[in-house]
Amino acid sequence: MRSLGENWRNAQAVLTGAGIDSARLDARLLLEYLAGCRYTDLLMAPEKILESPAQQVFDALLARRAKGEPLAYLLGEAEFRGRVFQVSPAVLIPRPETEVLIELALEKLQGLSAPKVVDLGTGSGIVAVSLALECPRASLVAVDLSQDAIAIARNNAGRLGAKVDFREGDWFSPVAGERFDTIVSNPPYVADGDPHLALNGLPFEPQMALTDGADGLACIRRIVADASVHLNPGGWLLFEHGYDQGEASRNLLTAAGFKAAVTFQDLAGIDRVSGAFI
Ligand SMILES: C[S@@+](CC[C@H](N)C(=O)[O-])C[C@H]1O[C@@H](n2cnc3c(N)ncnc32)[C@H](O)[C@@H]1O
Repeated sequence: MRSLGENWRNAQAVLTGAGIDSARLDARLLLEYLAGCRYTDLLMAPEKILESPAQQVFDALLARRAKGEPLAYLLGEAEFRGRVFQVSPAVLIPRPETEVLIELALEKLQGLSAPKVVDLGTGSGIVAVSLALECPRASLVAVDLSQDAIAIARNNAGRLGAKVDFREGDWFSPVAGERFDTIVSNPPYVADGDPHLALNGLPFEPQMALTDGADGLACIRRIVADASVHLNPGGWLLFEHGYDQGEASRNLLTAAGFKAAVTFQDLAGIDRVSGAFI
């Protein structure tokens, strides 16, 4: 057993030695989580002892973080749009750039009295849950191929008070014969073998959430090809994609009969979401 101060110093040294850029912050968040305290408590009472078994758990989580496992998986939660979502290695960790997709969908839903929306590849449920909470007149369906992801997403919707109809299956299969006013998706879009898959904790995330196992556009091609029969007239398809997939996405949309295909940038000015209406 060691004091909070000793643990904090030691954890920073371990994580810095392991090449973790956010060593100081991660050490602090892990310690707050295990000690059940706030930052001010760490500063005000560094001599307080971290009792057993919290000390053993802290050491184990620190060792996992030092091996590159993302902090969100160790804490079991991640923040998105000011809300805390449960996460596990069965789901992608929410990325702030996905907020672009939410903002655009909210814009397209303006003026519709009771819109129907489907979120394809819902993962932890961040897109469907955010839209359900921020556009309460919309009814949300959310689809994922992963049973484990659906369980996490359903739990998040319950905890956050969002009404979402979750369905397990392959892209549009669970919504056969149904039409929507907006289709949103953040599909896997990293190409097979892309060197980024080996970096920044990505090996710990579900590969089926990251890569299509092909050229990066395989899931987008399928979604674009099948979307029009699931949209009401004037309905929008909006999907997130990689920094270099804007032009290819617009071409796919136009070839599938969509109108006014357009690509939107994220706050860093990077092509992030493409969409069009039918
Ligand atoms: C990039 S993640 C997005 C997760 C979440 N929407 C987000 O933005 O954080 C892609 C999701 O698509 C799901 N997925 C992959 N292939 C699928 C398929 N054929 N049908 C439905 N969902 C699929 C994965 O399980 C994963 O949850």
